[in-house]
Amino acid sequence: MFKLPDLPYDYDALEPTISADTLHFHHDKHHKAYIEKTNTLAEKAGLSGKSLEEVVREASKTGDKTLFNNAAQAWNHAFFWPCMAPGGKSCTGQLKAAIEKTFGSVDEFKDKFVEEGVGHFGSGWVWLATGSEGLKIISTHDADDTLVKDGLFPLLVCDLWEHAYYLDYQNDRKAFLAAWLQHAANYFFAEQQMFAADGKGEGFKFGAPMASGGGGKEAPAEQPRV
Ligand code: FE2
Repeated sequence: MFKLPDLPYDYDALEPTISADTLHFHHDKHHKAYIEKTNTLAEKAGLSGKSLEEVVREASKTGDKTLFNNAAQAWNHAFFWPCMAPGGKSCTGQLKAAIEKTFGSVDEFKDKFVEEGVGHFGSGWVWLATGSEGLKIISTHDADDTLVKDGLFPLLVCDLWEHAYYLDYQNDRKAFLAAWLQHAANYFFAEQQMFAADGKGEGFKFGAPMASGGGGKEAPAEQPRV
């Protein structure tokens, strides 16, 4: 049985970028429903006892679309929560260097991330991921995720479903993404993921304790944001 993970911060901790109302609906209704449906469907599919990562990959392999959609959404949301931190975490160190190498600058990365998210038709997710060719920005449709894409390792994700931003930004996905990157994105978590992709440390796994700095209930970073 998978358990709905607690948010790694208070419901109002991301305001004004994301309201407490949005987080309550998003976490307590949407994410909870995906977890509950996954529990029912995974049991029916004989996958009890498997990790959520294994359930997502198995459902993709067998073509069980309903299980895949719910399990992948359960995983994507669990990964999304630590991708945010109160006030955001600055993009520094080796992640900043890698972003500058690939995109030119952190600002250019942000522009491309927003562009990808705004250009994505309908629901889905926009990711910063790393792979054999280095960093890349991709978007995936509906529940689709990087777990089923060979060689891709997720660093950071933002939810493009309207339930993620409609209460706060209505139809202005661009404003949501720009504010999210500037004031909520947890680049520290993304850098830890990048290290893990390189074999240094543990990457995110559903149900595992959050890594230190992975969005814990702590004061916003004091260093200037980029
Ligand atoms: Fe969502």
